[in-house]
Order: sequence, then C-alpha cells, then structure tokens
Amino acid sequence: MFAPETYASRRRALTASLSSGLIVFLGNDQAPMNYPSNYYRFRQDGSFLYYAGLDEPGLALTLDADSGEAVLYGHDPTMDDVVWEGPLPPLADRAASIGVSGTAPTDGLAEAIGKARVANRKVHVLPPYRGDQTLNLGKLLGVSPYEIAPSEELMAAVIAQRLVKSEEEITELDKAVALTAEMHLLAMRMAQPGRSEMKVAAAMEGVAHAGGGYPSFPIILTRHGEVLHNHPTDYVLREGDLMLTDGGAHAPGSRYAGDITRVSPVGGHFSDRQRALYEIVLDAQMQAIDACKPGTPFRDAHLLSCRVIAEGLAGLGLMKGDPAEAVKAGAHALFMPHGLGHAIGLDVHDMEALGEDRVGYDDEFQRSDQFGLAYLRYARRLEVGNVMTIEPGLYLIGALADMWQAEGKHTTFINYDEFDQWRDFGGIRIEDDIVVTEDGCRVLGPGIPKQTDEVEAAVQSGFEAFADAWPV
Ligand code: GLY
Ligand code: MN
Ligand code: MN
Repeated sequence: MFAPETYASRRRALTASLSSGLIVFLGNDQAPMNYPSNYYRFRQDGSFLYYAGLDEPGLALTLDADSGEAVLYGHDPTMDDVVWEGPLPPLADRAASIGVSGTAPTDGLAEAIGKARVANRKVHVLPPYRGDQTLNLGKLLGVSPYEIAPSEELMAAVIAQRLVKSEEEITELDKAVALTAEMHLLAMRMAQPGRSEMKVAAAMEGVAHAGGGYPSFPIILTRHGEVLHNHPTDYVLREGDLMLTDGGAHAPGSRYAGDITRVSPVGGHFSDRQRALYEIVLDAQMQAIDACKPGTPFRDAHLLSCRVIAEGLAGLGLMKGDPAEAVKAGAHALFMPHGLGHAIGLDVHDMEALGEDRVGYDDEFQRSDQFGLAYLRYARRLEVGNVMTIEPGLYLIGALADMWQAEGKHTTFINYDEFDQWRDFGGIRIEDDIVVTEDGCRVLGPGIPKQTDEVEAAVQSGFEAFADAWPV
C-alpha cells in the first residue's frame, strides 16, 4: 500500500474532474468456488484498489464530487470474523490508513445512494463484471441488474487517470516484473525433457507466492504456443519442443501486475527452424519497443511489428509479395492474429472491466473489423507514464490456414504449400512490459533472457540444478 496522501490525492483529482454527483466504488467480495465458504483467492477490484488501496473483501467507497467527502463502508470485525479469519483493525483505522475520515456501516451505502437519488443527484457507477456485484448494484440503484447504466463521465475520468502511472506506481510495476522475471528464469531452467508442463507451471506459481505475490492471471504454459491462451497440461516435455510460458506476478502489497512471455527450447538448443522464426518475432518485438515514444499511436507500433513479421516470413517463403501490402490486406494475421499489446497496471489488461474500447480507443482511432487488427486492444497515441505490454507472436494455426486456403483467401500473399511444411511448428510470442518516458520507453524489470543464446544458456544452466527438486 502507498501512503494515505497518495490515495487522497487520487480521489481529489477524480472528484475535481467530475461535474457533480455521488461516485460509488464497490470493492469485491469473496467469490465462492463450489460452496460459499470455499472461495477462490481474493482479488480486489482494480479501481477500488486505486482509490482506496484496501485489499480485502466487504468494502465500498463513496466520493461526493461536489463536496469532496469520502466515506468508507464496511464493518468492524465481529468475534466470528476474529475466530475464523483472524484479527482485523476497526473500520475507522482502515479508513485512516487511506486518508479517509468518514466511515459508515455496510447498509449505510444503500442509504447514501437513496438520499442522492431523492435529491435528483447523479449516482456514478462503474460497470459491474461479477454476478454478485451486478445483483448488489442493481438493488442499490433500484434498477434491474440488466439495466445498470454505468457513468460514461466516471469511466472516462478513471481511465484518463489510471492510464498515466506515477513514479511510485512505476516502482511497483518494476517490482512486479522483477518477481515475474524470477518465475520465468526458473521456468527456463526447468525446461528439460521428461518434466511435465504442470510441474513447470507449479514451480512458477510457487515463485510468485514465495515472493509475497501471486500469479496475475492463470499461467499459460504449453508446447502448443499456437493456442494463444493454452494452459498447462500433464504433457511431458520432450527434447526439441518449444515451451511457451506466458505468466506474471502481482507485486507484494501493492498488487501491480507483471505480464511476460518467453519461449524456451526444451533441452537447451533451438533447431534451425525454431531459431529462424524466433529471430523474426524478436526483431518485431525490439523494433516495436524502439518505436514506442510519446505521441506515437500504439497502432503504428503494432503495424510495424506486423510488417517485420511479414518481411521475415517472405524471407522464409511462407509469405510472398510486398510485406507492407500484405499487412494492409491483413494477410499477416494468419500468423499473428492478435494485437501488439495492452495497457497494464493494477489489472493485467488494465481497466478492461470498463470496456476495451474505452481504454484503448478514442475519437482519433476506431477499432478495425479486419481479422487480426480487430483484436488490437489499444490503438491510441502513447503518453509519458503509459505502461504497455509489447508482445508480438508468430503462430502456425493449421485449422485457420485450411479455412483461408479453402476460401482462396490472400493467395497473393500466403504460400499455403510452404505452410504445410511448417504446419506442426507451434507458436512463439515474446512479451515485455514497457513504460513510456520523455524520450522513448524503458523495459520494466531486471531484464530476462530473450536473445537465443541467452535463452539457450538459461535452459542449459538448469540441467544439474534441478536433479532433486521438482524431479523430472
Ligand atoms: N496474459 C495474456 C496476455 O498476454 O495478454
Ligand atoms: Mn502475457
Ligand atoms: Mn499481455
């Protein structure tokens, strides 16, 4: 958590940017798995964390945009809470820790909203994304849960504020990526024949927990990198497989997120083909990073990375024709169907609960409906303090190629016969997190091997080290 003044100044900036009304932030509650007292790991709402910092269930915050008054809703710990969950400070102490002097019991929220409605004041809410929150908010607002109208004014103000990270947020993001780096270094060293994907993923999760954090999203770890969000299975890795690892940690305490992807050759040696495709993705990633600076539309960095990929694939005979024209037509999307990256902060896909288009698009940029470009989550011009992922990839997705070929799609740009020679390749993605600075950008964290010789050396360094722990 930050000092109380950090949260107070965030709240002041928000209330100053809204014309009037009552702003309501609902914190998250526990989310049951299969019966009420058996729940998933608690995950606080990102906007609640941003303005109220408290990483625990059962809380809500109101801000009066006219008077600036902040009230924290919740309850003092009951003896039942103490017996089952342990001691917790009184509500007033928790409020003081975030610079809030007003507190009220949980039911006080319904009263405050009721009063605002009777006085014909606008009640600003964010869109709920959990079932229980949706029902609760519908009841509080006196509308059907299907008819909750989130406040466009509030969403725009929250997005504008949260997209630009302060120095202390960037410090926390660096910590998140540092912990994430430890997860990936261990995964590289464990990428040995005979060990299952699940064992590697389990060890990565262990690193996140041991570092005081936890995974910022369910770990993607697979030899089938071409399945973009594939999760680990009990598949036992074999010499020569490519192991794609996309995972991150929330930083201890603050909960800012890391999100990194690396690809390791199981056993420690890239084949010629693996190296060739890996180098193309790496080139696309490094050129995109170089292009990120204040004023550059993120969509331009995306299109640049797509062009580098199309050029590389033309060099290998998988694509043909003019790479720039191929990208314009969307032909490269057979190999890179997703966008270059997304904003990252307290949420891995930062503020996506408020709507991907609201976060990543504006009056200047509308979302394309072209396959591939349509999945670009963020197109806007970059600003100092934006934190983004840069994650181009290259995938051989047989079913997609078969469909396109049957439709006669992009035959001037794609060499389908050559595709058949690479069909079982899998996929590669390389992802780093950057912060936009005055004169360009900086890759967050301590640096994680990504040149082919560095990755090979990292995998090879694990041969002996893991003979006993996490045996194959
Ligand atoms: N973790 C999924 C992604 O990289 O967006
Ligand atoms: Mn990722
Ligand atoms: Mn990502």
